Amino acid sequence: MTPQFDFGMIGLGVMGSNLLLNLADNGFATTGYDLNPERMQALETAARPGTTVKGAASMEEMVLSLKKPRKLMMLVPAGNPVDSAINSLLPHLESGDILIDGGNSFYRDTLRRVAQLHEQGIHFFGMGISGGELGARLGPSMMPGGDREAYQFLKPLLEAVAAEADGKPCVAFMGKGAAGHYVKMVHNGIEYAMMQMISEVYDILHRGAGYTAEQLQALFQKWNDGPLQSFLIEITADVFRFRDTETKAWLVDMILDEAGSKGTGRWTTQEALNLPVAIPAIDAAVAARTLSGVRGQRQEAAKLFGQKTAAVNKAAALEAELESALFTGFICAYAQGLSMLAAASHEEGMDIPLPAVVQVWKGGCIIRSALLKQLEQAFAQNETLPNILLDKTVAGLVQEHESGLRNVLTQAIAAAVPVPALSASLAYLDSYRSERLPTNLVQAQRDYFGAHTYKRTDREGVFHTEWHEGPDEQPEP
Ligand code: 6PG
Repeated sequence: MTPQFDFGMIGLGVMGSNLLLNLADNGFATTGYDLNPERMQALETAARPGTTVKGAASMEEMVLSLKKPRKLMMLVPAGNPVDSAINSLLPHLESGDILIDGGNSFYRDTLRRVAQLHEQGIHFFGMGISGGELGARLGPSMMPGGDREAYQFLKPLLEAVAAEADGKPCVAFMGKGAAGHYVKMVHNGIEYAMMQMISEVYDILHRGAGYTAEQLQALFQKWNDGPLQSFLIEITADVFRFRDTETKAWLVDMILDEAGSKGTGRWTTQEALNLPVAIPAIDAAVAARTLSGVRGQRQEAAKLFGQKTAAVNKAAALEAELESALFTGFICAYAQGLSMLAAASHEEGMDIPLPAVVQVWKGGCIIRSALLKQLEQAFAQNETLPNILLDKTVAGLVQEHESGLRNVLTQAIAAAVPVPALSASLAYLDSYRSERLPTNLVQAQRDYFGAHTYKRTDREGVFHTEWHEGPDEQPEP
């Protein structure tokens, strides 16, 4: 068979098909394979006239029809299906071929697969793709990681289909090994935190201050024209426009308050604990979804404790303060995610280029926002910045907006509106910039009950006190 195709896709669900169609629109000859022949038929039908998109009769046929070095992607559910697809493909692949896993795989699985395929000379890439179905069709944000040399073969294809921000593509090499999936995992952790904080602000406004869906829609739309400009604020405004076709009630009010999850947020929290890096707003967002899931218990507890949510004062300042609160919260979410990447890059030897991460997140992905432009400037000053809060301009923005967060939290706490991610953000901020924390007392306690020793403020060394013997004679005051 004459190799004629530039790119092959295994798994023709909506994401796989849309990405392939996007490649074809950009002039690449593409072929796809799926166990379900109807999907291949649908793919060919969806192709624009003049583009090359072909379904393959088998995996083998697809592999053999690809130009070398062969470039293929799997877009199948994370977990066992990825290993099954690899095992079915392996007999047909050869040294130098490039295989991409474009799903939300756990990065440790990716590391294992990189090593497994490396033995046969195959370059395995873990690549995070963000932007959902529409993004895949029109321009996603992509986070590939793996072999730097082999990336040169993927670069022209990926750059052609990626979203653009400020004239640059939202795809770049994210580092070695499983760096691509690691960056996507952290992207999702930030996504969880931003979504949770937006929901908390919605709760304050709706349940606390009695805002209607129309008022919420107008407010979020207004916010999207200001410093909060972001994909998540934009879609939130849109959500408030929808009515339920059956009951005619606002659709958002008809949706059960139990959030699902596929695991990427939980992995972010688990991996942050392992590093360790503090990402409390992300942890709080993960926990908030978990608590949403024990709905029966919440209902029982609500009866037991009685309805306690009080009214939040609908003062003119509230909207501006909430805007500032979210803005500060968003900065904290990015600060936590990016500081996690900085630490993991070092610890796991992934060499993750933080300025490139910010560029890739500026367009096409779920966490894209105007704020990332400021972060881009911060990394332009120092590309290994361990935390964006150490950047002068970012610190200035926080100082400008933090009182909004403080005031909003005071009101929410008084009204018993739960604000776990926003309050975790403020606690993070207050801890991070605190020259002196109360952990001296924790050290004293550890040394008291476990002889764990402590360090002193005035000299080097490790010290222990015989606390049980009681204090020496106290000096005169
Ligand atoms: C994206 C999203 C996408 C998906 C997540 C949702 O960047 O396009 O993150 O990957 O929506 O998997 O994750 P949960 O199901 O855990 O919310």
